Amino acid sequence: MFLDAPVACAAMQLADLREDVAAACRRLAADGLVHATAGNVSARDGDLIAITPTGARLEELRAEEVAVVDRSGAQVDGALAPTSELELHLGVVERFGAGAVVHTHAPFATALSCVLDEVPLVHYEMLMLGGPVRVAPYATFGTPELAAGCLDALDGRTAALMANHGAITWGSDLAGALAATEVLEWACEVYWRAAQLGTPRVMDDAAREEFMTALTQRGYGRKEAR
Ligand code: 13P
Repeated sequence: MFLDAPVACAAMQLADLREDVAAACRRLAADGLVHATAGNVSARDGDLIAITPTGARLEELRAEEVAVVDRSGAQVDGALAPTSELELHLGVVERFGAGAVVHTHAPFATALSCVLDEVPLVHYEMLMLGGPVRVAPYATFGTPELAAGCLDALDGRTAALMANHGAITWGSDLAGALAATEVLEWACEVYWRAAQLGTPRVMDDAAREEFMTALTQRGYGRKEAR
């Protein structure tokens, strides 16, 4: 008996999505951006979201351990319960149309989240995140209050810090969300190092606009023949 082709195809796509989430977790752990059970990752395909299980050690996460939920949060596959930050992930999907969400306790981001209310725009790479990075108010992990504060902090941004907790980023897909995580941690380290030497200079609106113009005019980042 042959499997119904569209059903088999959807099952394969879901298997790929779960593998992508597990691989992303292992990579984040290898890069020192998450440790032990801290942090969580989700990736969406249409109305289905593959999401890390709660309490899992991310450096050794396997695809079959990844949970699958729908946009309302109802579990549709997987034996393990989804992350305690499910409401946060679903909120980012609903508010911003995210294709993937990454929450870490990355060390520089977390350190700054304990001190600052906002990471100032000290480098143009931060424009990839939408500008200065806001710090969402502290609330207990897994609560609606934490999710609400993070969603507000993410307005017009792809990254935010979570006070005394960590960082959250999103993208249209997992590669985008991971890239935002990487840039965020790099920017937090740059800010931290600069602040050791004095008061970091902040990019003003004119510098920001000139950067955006140069980026567009040059088509920077597009590979083209000479
Ligand atoms: P989970 O193990 O439930 O994903 O929680 C980890 C975490 O980082 C909570 O913010």
